[in-house]
Amino acid sequence: MEKIKKIGVLTSGGDAPGMNAAVRSVVRTAVYNGIEVMGIRKGYNGLINGDIFEMNARSVSETLQRGGTVLQTARSKEFATPEGVARAAEIAKIFGIEGLVVIGGDGSFRGARDLAKAGIRTIGIPATIDNDIGCTEYCIGYDTALNTVKDAIDKIRDTASSHERSSVIEVMGRDAGYIAVMAGIACGAEAVIIPEKKFDFDEDVLRPIIEGKNRGKSHYLVIVAEGVGGALEMAEEIEKRTGIETTATILGHIQRGGSPTVDDRVYASEMGLKAVEALMEGKSNRLIVMQDHKITDIDIDEGLAMKKEMNPDLIRLCKIMSW
Ligand code: F6P
Repeated sequence: MEKIKKIGVLTSGGDAPGMNAAVRSVVRTAVYNGIEVMGIRKGYNGLINGDIFEMNARSVSETLQRGGTVLQTARSKEFATPEGVARAAEIAKIFGIEGLVVIGGDGSFRGARDLAKAGIRTIGIPATIDNDIGCTEYCIGYDTALNTVKDAIDKIRDTASSHERSSVIEVMGRDAGYIAVMAGIACGAEAVIIPEKKFDFDEDVLRPIIEGKNRGKSHYLVIVAEGVGGALEMAEEIEKRTGIETTATILGHIQRGGSPTVDDRVYASEMGLKAVEALMEGKSNRLIVMQDHKITDIDIDEGLAMKKEMNPDLIRLCKIMSW
């Protein structure tokens, strides 16, 4: 097998803290192994438009501690078409890019699979704060986002319990409730409302608040995943029905920013290294994943077919801890 000479790296979809650590790892692993590495700006759009530049070990200095992605990112509509994929593959070939590392979520991996079919070797690295990729226990950015959410909710709690208020807090996660459930456990929520589980407002929201009050609580926290939404309306309804003053906070994009945690830096570094090594071994159409707490690689199509199930024990834990 001929040694791979030149690879590319891009970040795609929503940015996630730790993406820079993954880019840095890809670049330095490639340079260490004598492989040329090209940075592609703004995701697949940059590939289609030839927004490509040569990187070296110093191009990624001072990036490890930064949130966002220094390569910038995009959700490319053009790349979602067969013409877009063909054009991207052609541009990659013109630049001599034999293998591409794609850092992003499942939409980005569908793109990586299409590019692999068009003759460019691809390896995906999971990065999304939503942690909603079925084939991996860990996604870059999730840990940092959870810590940001934890900090924000702890602060809201300080003021809310001083006033004996109830707080409804809406967190991100797209169609998944992982951020909501983990924040519920870490911050002590009375109720966690997620898209994976049907809810009844009286039973699942009002009742824990009223019972909590009767047990002597001074603050009532409801975490709503954005996939359910409606935090403002929910707060109004709680106040109307219980008489407890209730505020609503939508945390929004603050959850996506900030310096990555140690976990996000370390796992992103490990995944970047594995991705380049996979390309060196001649692999393509693979995803770097964490399974049973080990970093390994699996087929993209198999990975995309796997669905993540919410662990009911986590929901139970949250409920019992709120007693
Ligand atoms: O996928 C990450 C995420 O932050 C989701 O939680 C959220 O639904 C979405 O991206 C927001 O996207 P945008 O930044 O394009 O508004």
